[in-house]
Amino acid sequence: MKNVLVIGSTGQIGSELTMKLRSLYGGNIVAGYIPGSEPHGELLESGPSAIVDITNEQQIAETVSKYHIDTIYNLAALLSAVAEIKTQLAWKIGMDGLFNVLEVAREHHCAVFTPSSIGVFGDNSPKDKTPQDTIRNPRTMYGVTKVAGELLSDYYFIRFGVDTRSVRFPGLISHVTPPGGGTTDYAVDIFYSAIRGEVFECPIAAGTYMDMMYMPDAVRAAIEIMEADPAGFVHRNSFNVTAMSFDPEGIAANIRKYIPDFRMSYQVDPMRQAIADSWPNSLDDTCARAEWGWHPEYDLDGMTQDMLEKLRLKLG
Ligand code: SER
Repeated sequence: MKNVLVIGSTGQIGSELTMKLRSLYGGNIVAGYIPGSEPHGELLESGPSAIVDITNEQQIAETVSKYHIDTIYNLAALLSAVAEIKTQLAWKIGMDGLFNVLEVAREHHCAVFTPSSIGVFGDNSPKDKTPQDTIRNPRTMYGVTKVAGELLSDYYFIRFGVDTRSVRFPGLISHVTPPGGGTTDYAVDIFYSAIRGEVFECPIAAGTYMDMMYMPDAVRAAIEIMEADPAGFVHRNSFNVTAMSFDPEGIAANIRKYIPDFRMSYQVDPMRQAIADSWPNSLDDTCARAEWGWHPEYDLDGMTQDMLEKLRLKLG
């Protein structure tokens, strides 16, 4: 990995991944963005950036040629709850966009990372310690595009030799760029309310367990899988990865260790709750650990302490 194009570089994962890649690699780390989501500050100043709309194959190809790109991080996506409302756009970005990326990668010999998600699983997947290889029958547009994306990425590897790799991310928690429209976003929003001394209105019901991960671990996973020796791979698209599993009561209790008067009430959002109910309670990430050495560094308590410290500084 030398010259890298990050599509969606100003988004939830992209903004941190792009900076991390620039700190690790000396080549061109190009921040791809769409008009209206321009990079600012350090992200803009620390390296090249380019307008790269994933729905425009020519734009991707031109940037790949110009910067001699060898690896593409394809981070353009709508998260699960928004995708349920903007179904056509979710398909256009998730599927047509991926197709464009894979075609450019095939022609220009690039490796491709495309995140998948716990959203690939549905009501009839095993709920606890959901295995790597099991039924993937989601009933959300987000999940449909992620399952199809996994299959298409494997197809491009098998048929054309494109070096496609992926992980199934759980809910990602970060103090840098807020997520938008995800089912797991409550686990980010809760920290903002806690720091501001507000009562947090939780849109997900008590007892709803989902997998989560702190962003530094997620960024490391995205880099380590692309650096891994593929000789160890049995799987490619996509690996279960996880760091922790909790329900709203669990994260609230952990926050109360540091902010004892933190309070939470419930205002359950039926759409997000239905999505959350269809997802696993916990994932089994044995294959990622065995095939490329995946291991999380942050558990719930380590993440909570770091989030509270960083958000206190950020919010003054
Ligand atoms: N965080 C994502 C979502 O909630 C799951 O991959 O949509």
